[in-house]
Amino acid sequence: MSETVAIAADHGGFELKTILVPELRALGLTVLDLGTASAEPVDYPDMAEALAMAIESGRAGRGVAICGTGIGISIAINRHRALRGALVHDGLTARLARQHNDANVLVLGGRLLGPELARDCLKTFFTTAFDGGRHARRVAKLS
Ligand code: RB5
Repeated sequence: MSETVAIAADHGGFELKTILVPELRALGLTVLDLGTASAEPVDYPDMAEALAMAIESGRAGRGVAICGTGIGISIAINRHRALRGALVHDGLTARLARQHNDANVLVLGGRLLGPELARDCLKTFFTTAFDGGRHARRVAKLS
């Protein structure tokens, strides 16, 4: 069975979420869409909490979190010890978030990234492995 990836966004990330859900499926991942389901305003800490619960409970292995800038939802995600959320801006930061930080939540700014850049971030993040080695010691110290 394929890995389940949970995705959650506030209204600032809703549009990008609708673009990225099919991209996750195209990568062979099972998607757990936690909302939001419209452009009506919701609070990003609530969306981050839903994503954190999905990962902490084992319903999902990794996640994608989106708000307008990615900043608010990133702060909220990283209050959870088991989560390593990386606010990513391009393919390079997406690759290094995986190789060096073993990030398990990809965080994106829905109002900052165009669809092609966001697709590239997503694909790179979910196809890049953790380098381990010296990075494993550092990542272990985070939790
Ligand atoms: C919502 O308007 C906006 O503040 C939110 O999406 C996010 O950018 C916060 O960091």
